[in-house]
This record gives sequence, C-alpha cells and structure tokens, in this order.
Amino acid sequence: MIYILDTANINDIKKAMDIYPLSGVTTNPSIISKENRDFLDILKDIKGVIGKETMLHVQTLSTTCEGIVEEAHYIRDNVEGELYIKVPVIAEGIKAIKQLKKEGFKITATAVITANQALMAAVAGADFVAPYVNRIDNISGSGVNVVNDILNQFELYNLDTKVLAASFKNVQQIADVSNLGVDSITVPLELLDKSIEHPLTDWSVQQFTSDWKKTYKTDKIII
Ligand code: E4P
Repeated sequence: MIYILDTANINDIKKAMDIYPLSGVTTNPSIISKENRDFLDILKDIKGVIGKETMLHVQTLSTTCEGIVEEAHYIRDNVEGELYIKVPVIAEGIKAIKQLKKEGFKITATAVITANQALMAAVAGADFVAPYVNRIDNISGSGVNVVNDILNQFELYNLDTKVLAASFKNVQQIADVSNLGVDSITVPLELLDKSIEHPLTDWSVQQFTSDWKKTYKTDKIII
C-alpha cells in the first residue's frame, strides 16, 4: 500500500510526514484554494517539507487539451523533483494525457467516476488513476465496486497503471478498498489519524504502564 496525503496545508503535511509512512502529497484546485495564498509558494513550501524525491501530484484547471498541456509545463517549470500532473478524465483531458505522456510527464488521471474512464486514461498513458470513492458513494453508486472493476480490468489488460483511490470520507471506505489490494490511497490527515485510533488500544497501553508501575514503581523500562 502506498499512502499519500490529500492536502495542501503545510502544518498537516509536517505532522503527517512526521508520523506516517507517506509516499507523497496530492492536491487539487479546491484543496489549493482553501489555503488562500500564492499557488507557486504553496507548491514550493510543500516540496520543502516532503523533499524532492517524494511525489507531489498537482492538478491542471483548464478544460482544453492546449490549456492543460500549457499548465502542465508551467507546473513542471516551477516544481523540483518528483511530480505528477493530475488531469481530469474529460475528453480533452484524455487527449492531453496522450500528448503529455509523449513529452515525458508523469500523469495522474483524476476525477474518475467509472471504470471505463480509468481504462481509457490508462491506455492513453496515465501512471495513476484516481477514482473518487466518496463522490461515487454519494450518487448511490459503490466506490469500492468501481475500484474493484478498475483493478480487475488493469489486470485483464496487463496495464501497469496504478490505482490511487481518492475522495475518502470515512475509515470504512479505506478498509474496503484496502481489502481489494488497491495500490495506493490518498487521505487527509484527520482520516489517517482516525484509521489507527481505537479506545481499546489506548486502554491497553494504559494498563501496561499501570501493571509495570505496580511492580517497578516507575513508568520507565530503562532505569
Ligand atoms: C485527490 O486527488 C482528490 O482530488 C481528492 O481526494 C478529492 O476529494 P474530495 O472528493 O473530498 O474533494
């Protein structure tokens, strides 16, 4: 499993990188807008925290192939190191993925709602496809079924494209796609925290300390 952090908030990125085994950060225009400061400064600050070798996924905003390609160049010219250009799977996006691939860009096809979109993006050259699990669930679909279909199709067609499940709103969604053996997930800090929290774990840790203290009169193993 490749864990990626879904935020552009520097404090969250610092906290999450410190604790969790993260391989990268994903952003999109909505996530960037929340920070309400200069776009390139945000990207530079993120790279400053995660390092050149760690993946940063940055999304284009244009809805034309020409515009997407122009924005991809602008982003690449301003970001050092590991970079994935996120391109939505609209028709112009698929066209742009083909072109960007030829130019040597690494690409994450995004806003994936159906397995058909994911397959098309993969054949066009996407390195990752990002199905939006919660947005699919919210239209009475099944995000986990879409992820399953994508994984099956990539195996059937022997495609190397990785599935980066995205748009999570609860830990059950994370557990469901993890059971499928999904390649990677992108999750905000709050959900990463929730995914490992359990009161019985906390109680067990307290009990270990209390038992130890009764015998050794200290809460340290090294005295
Ligand atoms: C990440 O790559 C996606 O853009 C993000 O997970 C979408 O999440 P949302 O549906 O919560 O906006």
